Amino acid sequence: MELPELIASRRARVGVVGLGYVGLPLISAFHRAGFSVIGFDVDGTKVDKLLRGQSYLRHLGETFVAQMLEAGRFDATIEFERLEEADAICICVPTPLGVHNEPDLSYIAQTSEAVARSLRSGQIIALESTSYPGTTREVVLPRLEAGGLRCGHDFFLAFSPEREDPGNRAHDPLSVSKLVGGIDPASTALATDLYRQAYKNVVPVSSAEVAESAKLLENIYRAVNIALVNELKLILTEMDIDVWEVIRAASTKPFGFQTFYPGPGLGGHCIPIDPFYLTWKAREVGHPTRFIELAGEINRAMPEYVVRRTALALNERNKSLRGSAVLVLGVAYKPNIDDVRESPGIEVIERLLRLGAKVAYNDPHVPRTPKMRRHDLGLSSVPLSLETLQRYDCVIIITHHDAYNWQMIADNARLIVDTRNAMAGVKGDREHIVQA
Ligand SMILES: NC(=O)c1ccc[n+]([C@@H]2O[C@H](COP(=O)([O-])OP(=O)(O)OC[C@H]3O[C@@H](n4cnc5c(N)ncnc54)[C@H](O)[C@@H]3O)[C@@H](O)[C@H]2O)c1
Repeated sequence: MELPELIASRRARVGVVGLGYVGLPLISAFHRAGFSVIGFDVDGTKVDKLLRGQSYLRHLGETFVAQMLEAGRFDATIEFERLEEADAICICVPTPLGVHNEPDLSYIAQTSEAVARSLRSGQIIALESTSYPGTTREVVLPRLEAGGLRCGHDFFLAFSPEREDPGNRAHDPLSVSKLVGGIDPASTALATDLYRQAYKNVVPVSSAEVAESAKLLENIYRAVNIALVNELKLILTEMDIDVWEVIRAASTKPFGFQTFYPGPGLGGHCIPIDPFYLTWKAREVGHPTRFIELAGEINRAMPEYVVRRTALALNERNKSLRGSAVLVLGVAYKPNIDDVRESPGIEVIERLLRLGAKVAYNDPHVPRTPKMRRHDLGLSSVPLSLETLQRYDCVIIITHHDAYNWQMIADNARLIVDTRNAMAGVKGDREHIVQA
């Protein structure tokens, strides 16, 4: 059977490379649509867990992997020769920054080479990892064509950015529009057909570069607007004006304004990182990315601001940060998930420790701080109780998980530094609450 018929009849076998926050939900989406799916990862522990029916990403729920196994049509492996078995291959590997903030495309390059080793006629490959415009054509395509097969004739290649938003229950992930841009019209058409089997709203665009750039625009737009409200927070706080009330007031305008909130700094694998992929690529055409650099500067300064506000608040109570016991609430980079990548909470802890504070943290979703790109704190979450709260000189709210009882925290903490306006609804005395 030819690829178009395999896709239309959902008999195509879908391979997903990189079984993380993006790859695992994608596996689930294609499986739910009736496809046979096979997951590939270099991390054997993840593959073993999946084959035992366990999910390692809590926000996706406990049962879906077991259900996929039970239904059949699901396999996972570290044997990349088996890529040959897949008719469609989606690449969802990491795209981090290197030590000098340069794009690290080594994961995409390695995966492209692995796909190339078993590339055969009638396969379609879709890159989902976020990267700068040109990556699919300049990095993936030449590796795939190195063996002599030609894109658009023998195999097909497209870029389809992921819009995964872990922990966000407001949107059904399968209803969020999915962009698809191919290397050539045949690739766009086939990739669109493939994704339409699993997603409700697939939007083809004219090229892989348009799809790559659109993904970056979305993330740069967020980074810049978060920087704007972060800067406003610094200014308005000095003027004794509540930035949260200002944002609430402005957001009553039904057009021309979109709400963004300030916070302790950017976190996650996307917003702090992806804009700098464009910064790097823009040098090729001799353009500085001033908005991106300025937003980065402002957002990166936020953890230091939180620490400064904490030191000042302690100072007003005749305490120095050095020697004070500080409890950080939340180290995940956003509510109700266990992802700490680039989390400002980790950076705040590190800065507090450097200044001599005795720091502990609580996070119901993160029992231990993992080893990260730039940090290795090796801390464990302390239980949160009335007694724990009373023991600390200061509590800093970094992540507003739903699991937290804000009234209990307000009633028992001696001093609260609130970076998320989590204390907005609590009743009683507010003398011990500081916005940061
Ligand atoms: N996390 C998000 O919410 C999100 C949203 C949109 C886009 N993205 C983008 O999607 C891509 C993947 O992000 P993620 O959050 O899923 O990352 P992740 O770290 O959660 O998952 C990546 C997976 O790839 C595996 N891997 C690493 N090298 C590999 C290789 N050579 N071959 C096979 N597997 C390999 C890792 O073991 C890991 O399981 C990135 O480009 C990211 O920017 C992420």
